[in-house]
Amino acid sequence: MDFSLYLLTLLSLLSQCSAQWCYQSQYSCDDTCRDPSRWAAQFPSCGGLRQSPINIVTHKVHVNSALPPLDFMGHTNRINITVENMGHSAHFTLPQSVRLTGGALPGHYRAAQFHFHWGVNGRPGSEHTIDGERFPMELHIVHIKEPYGSLAEAEHDMAGIALLAFLFEEMTDDHPHIDTLIDALGRVQNNGSTTVIPDFRLSDIIPSAKELHSYYRYVGSMTTPGCEQAVAWTVFHKTLPISNRQLVAIAQQCRFWTGQPMTDIFRPTQPLDGRVVYRSKASAVLPGVIYVWLGVVLLIH
Ligand SMILES: *[C@@H]1O[C@H](CO)[C@@H](O)[C@H](O)[C@H]1NC(C)=O
Ligand SMILES: [Zn+2]
Repeated sequence: MDFSLYLLTLLSLLSQCSAQWCYQSQYSCDDTCRDPSRWAAQFPSCGGLRQSPINIVTHKVHVNSALPPLDFMGHTNRINITVENMGHSAHFTLPQSVRLTGGALPGHYRAAQFHFHWGVNGRPGSEHTIDGERFPMELHIVHIKEPYGSLAEAEHDMAGIALLAFLFEEMTDDHPHIDTLIDALGRVQNNGSTTVIPDFRLSDIIPSAKELHSYYRYVGSMTTPGCEQAVAWTVFHKTLPISNRQLVAIAQQCRFWTGQPMTDIFRPTQPLDGRVVYRSKASAVLPGVIYVWLGVVLLIH
């Protein structure tokens, strides 16, 4: 009797400890991992009122002329970057020499890493959707506001993190520089493995800032636990090209921490909960006006 009670307690403890978060694609009835609908049970912020990603309804966005283009620094530098399989996605680490300012963001930001969200077999896998449409893939470039040094330090600041999001669009031709990334992902198949991409330039993957004057802006969260509500989101209107071959290949390289193929790595869209999505409109405004405006946006919500 005592022994079976002990066993039961032990089993329930074990199942609690192994209840790691996972994507819907990893979840099955005999699994104990927490799928997105249950993230909030372990990470309370995931149930907050400023969550990401969202569906952007274009006829409801507020056009705002106080959203100037961003300024990129270090995007054309050749750098060696480390790629790591994090168990739920693969992170491409960026050096602090890659920086971001402008775009009505309240400060200077240093890049930390970029990563992708994808589907499976060439099917849509973006996190943000536009008028209900999911795009083939999404690139996120994560920046931390100065002087913070980590997500933990930045998470109490509503704009402590600046996330740039690029949606991909399927084209006939290959993206000329994505194969380098796909090859690197093939070298980090399993949770925890790392590799280096030498002589990488961020400008090989994304356009220059002046081609990116049109974007959506809203305040939200990280899209993986702990879902920290500290993100000024910029979702660019301009899409990046990718071929069907590349799209199929990129989702075939890595495995989750559970050993299953790393596919459909996107969180479902979250309620707006009264937030407003703004859209930039290129025009000259005084910097002072921009800061006052951002202050208003951040305080209202
Ligand atoms: C990248 O790595 C190579 C080989 O280790 C090294 O020679 C080169 O200096 C590195 N480049 C940078 C920018 O750190
Ligand atoms: Zn992301």
